[in-house]
Amino acid sequence: MSVKVFDTKEVQDLLKVASNLGGDNSNDSGNARFQQIVHRLLSDVFKAIDDLDITPDEVWAGVNYLNKLGQDGEAALLAAGIGLEKYLDIRLDAADKAVGLDGGTPRTIEGPLYVAGAPVREGVSKIDINEDAEAGPLVIRGTVTDTDGEPVPGALVECWHANSKGFYSHFDPTGAQTGFNLRGAVRTGADGKYEFRTLMPVGYGCPPQGATQQLLDGLGRHGNRPAHVHFFITSDDHRKLTTQFNIEGDPLIWDDFAYATREELIPHVVEKTGGAALGMKTDAYKDIEFNIVLTPRVQGKDNQIVNRPRVSATA
Ligand code: DHB
Ligand code: FE
Repeated sequence: MSVKVFDTKEVQDLLKVASNLGGDNSNDSGNARFQQIVHRLLSDVFKAIDDLDITPDEVWAGVNYLNKLGQDGEAALLAAGIGLEKYLDIRLDAADKAVGLDGGTPRTIEGPLYVAGAPVREGVSKIDINEDAEAGPLVIRGTVTDTDGEPVPGALVECWHANSKGFYSHFDPTGAQTGFNLRGAVRTGADGKYEFRTLMPVGYGCPPQGATQQLLDGLGRHGNRPAHVHFFITSDDHRKLTTQFNIEGDPLIWDDFAYATREELIPHVVEKTGGAALGMKTDAYKDIEFNIVLTPRVQGKDNQIVNRPRVSATA
């Protein structure tokens, strides 16, 4: 059934009325920007159906997939897995380049598993609350500076990561984690330093029965990430940075299903002793120095702040 109807007046009129493009919004119920975006996205879907001769069965499989995606609560997971979140980073990088902004620690995706509200400590925080027999001790530390290399005092460094099973607290199907396990927030002092005492994470895998993995299966892709640690770094005089580092040596570093890996975000893992004095569970521990360079605001404005629905909880 290779018919072409997209360019007909009937279909173009349908797209306009369905999105109410150019509609009268004077009663405040419609929004011109929203109408424009819906009109464009709907047009792109209609055109794809025409161009690829997508069958009704295929369309309904897709519609039904959206129901499963919502039921599973995985829309933000899927956004990472299909490269949409990476694409937004590519656009932000390009916008920085266009105004000559460089020299900061590279951004990379937030992912869907942040939880706001971790207790804020001064300088150092021990964030492994729950026992995890499989996980070895890890210190993550560094200095927050500006692009001139000056320490940034008063910066809020937030981190979050998975346990030895690849699960995050608040989203752990095994129930093994409480509160803000493996999630922390540290305020830098005059020296700009931060430190988290924690346990080594393992890479995350998409829920095997979930909608995201279902789509990836259809593409012949896996849904795994290398071991990684997420960061938000917030400071009054700088742009908020969203980033992560990967754990050096993880075989999936260059095969991340969410495309978050960047060359500059793979710090060395160093074996150290003296963990007992730091309150670590064994004297031998791993140490990762991850220094963070923040970029200035653009005309006083943080133009890389991203507003999106986020889970929050009280500690
Ligand atoms: C996903 C999970 C993560 O831990 C992450 O950092 C990014 C994305 C996800 O399931 O999409
Ligand atoms: Fe993650």
